[in-house]
Amino acid sequence: MDGNFNENDISRVVEADRAHIWHHLSQHKPYETTDPRIIVEGKGMRVWDQKGKEHIDAVSGGVWTVNVGYGRERIANAVRDQLIKLNYFAGSAGSIPGSNFAEMLIDKMPGMSRVYYCNSGSEANEKGFKMVRQIAHKRYGGKKHKVLYRDRDYHGTTISCLSAGGQDERNAQYGPFTEGFVRVPHCLEYRAFEQDGAPSENYGVWAADQIEKVILAEGPDTVGALCLEPVTAGGGVIVPPDGYWDRVQEICKKYDILLHIDEVVCGVGRTGTWFGYQHYGIKPDMVTMAKGVASGYAAIACLVTTEEVFNMFKDDHTDPMNYFRDISTFGGCTAGPTAGIENMAIIEEENLLENTTNMGHYMLDQLNALADKHKVIGQVRGKGLFLGCELVEDHDSRAPVAEKMVQAVVGDCMQQGTIIGATNRSLPGKNNTLCFSPALIATKDDINQIVASVDEALGRVFG
Ligand SMILES: Cc1ncc(COP(=O)(O)O)c(C=O)c1O
Repeated sequence: MDGNFNENDISRVVEADRAHIWHHLSQHKPYETTDPRIIVEGKGMRVWDQKGKEHIDAVSGGVWTVNVGYGRERIANAVRDQLIKLNYFAGSAGSIPGSNFAEMLIDKMPGMSRVYYCNSGSEANEKGFKMVRQIAHKRYGGKKHKVLYRDRDYHGTTISCLSAGGQDERNAQYGPFTEGFVRVPHCLEYRAFEQDGAPSENYGVWAADQIEKVILAEGPDTVGALCLEPVTAGGGVIVPPDGYWDRVQEICKKYDILLHIDEVVCGVGRTGTWFGYQHYGIKPDMVTMAKGVASGYAAIACLVTTEEVFNMFKDDHTDPMNYFRDISTFGGCTAGPTAGIENMAIIEEENLLENTTNMGHYMLDQLNALADKHKVIGQVRGKGLFLGCELVEDHDSRAPVAEKMVQAVVGDCMQQGTIIGATNRSLPGKNNTLCFSPALIATKDDINQIVASVDEALGRVFG
């Protein structure tokens, strides 16, 4: 390559983009006077834009997706071969890559047993919500249908996923929302001082107990499921405190509430285990995953359940309504599981879980060292190669810095050729966390380059 392409062709592409593309999560007015960014090529940890400028990508494609890095010919070749053999057939039939990938996946998820394919994290979560409702109708006269979700978590972009969304700026202006979703408090210990009654010790157990309070207020016989991110992503990279998950599991058991874990970001290696929930010894009933399942080489999402949940949909086969009456057209694309197989094989063969754990510790240490230098960093947190730095006005008040300052840091890094992320337009007044999620192949040199850019940017923006 790298970054060699015809300038005339590229300027035509930029004009076509400006004329016709509606970018996600973007205000388009600035593109009237500046060029939209076009990413042209990627290799390993790096991407090149339309000007041929090289960037190190510290956010795996912007949204925690390209876990095994760019330019993996092995995945492309496998997908190509499969597309020629059979590109698609609807999910009422099976496929060779569909079966093989399901077997690989379940092998990594002891206690789970069934894989339902679809094509986005939102869709997978919606299917989980539908299952909860159908189970409620089948077993509890429709009553035990509510889904609890947590403040600051995100589960997707559709109206029902937003109804289960704990990020008020993401939700704003998209109501009215779907009924039957109820919020529980967040578990970010750094902001426990803003929560009434939060103790200075055993915060994790207290935070989980707040979920029980909501269940009791709603009536346990109305609550069907609790949907949580194992480590909250866009809500500020929140690693649940000690004691939290054990108590959550106890509460779910006590009230016969299904535990739905949203692994759309954490799934397939991001935190150094195959799945984020596996750090905590919990046993989910449903697990959803998307982004890293095929590292963005194909669109694939999965809803994985236990055999127990699956069995609830086949108990009375004489009842014509008694099965999961859900459709996903693109869940039948064979590219997804084919890419998923190669993606998982790469992670295994290159020991990327181990690398994620080691490099995650290294990056955490480097960011903590940065926090000693830049007082604007209030807290560094994360697991594996999934890290965040919360920026505050001062350490006593922990007042969040303004979002535009956070964006200035992101912009400065971009100028330096380092793509980092930040919580954005998610939480009113609290979009103050820088986010890092480099590919699982990251080396110490890559991390040093990323951290050096952040160091410079913080120096320039905050002095
Ligand atoms: C935790 C989590 N769940 C679900 C989703 C939705 O996934 P998708 O954008 O593929 O619909 C996202 C997207 O960022 C996410 O971060």
